[in-house]
Parts: sequence; C-alpha cells; structure tokens
Amino acid sequence: MFVGDLGDEDVDMVTRIADLPIPKAVILGNHDAWQSFAKKESTPNLNESLDVLGDDHIAYTVREVPAAGISIVGARPFSWGGQSLRSPELYDEIYGVHTMRQSAAAIVDAARNAQHRDIVILAHNGPTGLGSETDDIYGKDFGKPGGDWGDYDLELALQRIAGFGIRVRAVIAGHMHHKLLHPRGAERKRFIQRGDTTFINCAVVPRVERDKDGKELSYFVRTRWLEGECTAIEEVWVDTHGGEHSSTPVTAESIDDVVETIDEVDEQ
Ligand SMILES: [Fe+2]
Repeated sequence: MFVGDLGDEDVDMVTRIADLPIPKAVILGNHDAWQSFAKKESTPNLNESLDVLGDDHIAYTVREVPAAGISIVGARPFSWGGQSLRSPELYDEIYGVHTMRQSAAAIVDAARNAQHRDIVILAHNGPTGLGSETDDIYGKDFGKPGGDWGDYDLELALQRIAGFGIRVRAVIAGHMHHKLLHPRGAERKRFIQRGDTTFINCAVVPRVERDKDGKELSYFVRTRWLEGECTAIEEVWVDTHGGEHSSTPVTAESIDDVVETIDEVDEQ
C-alpha cells in the first residue's frame, strides 16, 4: 500500500511504483497532483500517472485481499487536508465528485461493494475527529498551529460505513509529517486505536535515511493480518537490497471510542 506524495507530479516515480512486480494499492497525494490543483484541471502528467497506475490506483474503489480476510477501500486521493477540496473542478473532472458529501458517499459506495465485512481504508490524509492539538495524528502544526486538519469526508464515510455493519479495521494514510513545526522538532502521535479501528499515519519524513555506515534505509509500516483482524504492526527500516535493518513493534494509543454524531455542515 502506498499513501501517495510519490513526487511533484513525477511520472517517472509513479512509473517505478507501477512497475514493481508485487500486488499493490496506491492513493496519490496532493503533491502528485500539484500542478493540476494550480490549474484546476488535470495536467498531462497527472493523466499519465493515473494511466500508468491503472487499477492499482484505488480511489473510490475496492481491492480484495482474500488471504488477509480484508478488502482495501480507497478514499479520496490528492487530499491537502483541511476544510476545502481545493479544487472541486479537478475532482469533478476525474471522479464526478464536487463536494465533501459526494466524496463521502463515493467512499461509502466503495465500502458497500467490498466482499469482506472487515475493511481497510487507504487514504492520503486521515479523517477529522481524532484531535486538534498539533501533536494529534492529523492535528494542524503549521501556519497558525492547532485545529483538526483531517478529511471531513472520510470521517463522515467512517460513520456511515459503521451503520452498515462493516468493520473498518484500519485507516492507513500519511500526509501529516511526523516531525512537527509547532512545537518545532516534537513528534505527532501516529498510531491510534478507536473501537475496532487502528488509525495509522505512516508519514515519516524523510522516509529515506542513511545509517552511520552510509547505507540507504527506507521506512515502511508492516501490518500482519489473520481472517480480517490486524494482529501486529511494526515500523521497519529496509535497505536497498530488501534487508531488514530494524523492526520495532507498535502499540496503538487508545482513545475514547464514543464517536459523536457529526452535523453535516454546509460547505464553504
Ligand atoms: Fe501530502
């Protein structure tokens, strides 16, 4: 699973991911549609990125993983976080989605088409509703710090999906960097448990580092699954030959599983 921001509309990088000879599911990030948002229409680079990925870009669709007992449901791609879609024109052009509510409905439709009752949602940015401190999993740490910078459509979708008796076992996303701008250098919470759902923010930036011997290491989060249940989460640093340099088990921090019913506010 890839949570996006592969590059700034970098078709070469998207192609390298698309060419990996493994099963994969991708959600592109805001950076992957950087120029398209500026122009409010898809650029040739974005179109090429989407073509190259084909069905592996799972925005508003489902990828079945029978061996794990789950279905992976794709949320809204290209998210910048915050209240605004930034360019409803772009979403309308590609997905026929013009508002947060329509986007939520498209995520819910995908979840209802899933073959499993246990699903994982793959998104670029996580949902609202998980806190508004700068160190919360999707809290705003930049600009005027503080506030919930999650995706409202995803929160709305999670609530509706629960109403259909579908269990969201994990929401896997990135976008919000692990090191905070306010307070500078502090780190955000990145693994949260609420009810049946584990929220994972895997945006360790930079995700490629060198160890003391100059060896290049890349960051991954590994999850293990059995019959629809996530049995383990690890943070893993891997060298360029696939060798595991380190793996650290993760225990998600529990938060209150009482989800308040959210009002459907009018969008700006
Ligand atoms: Fe991003």
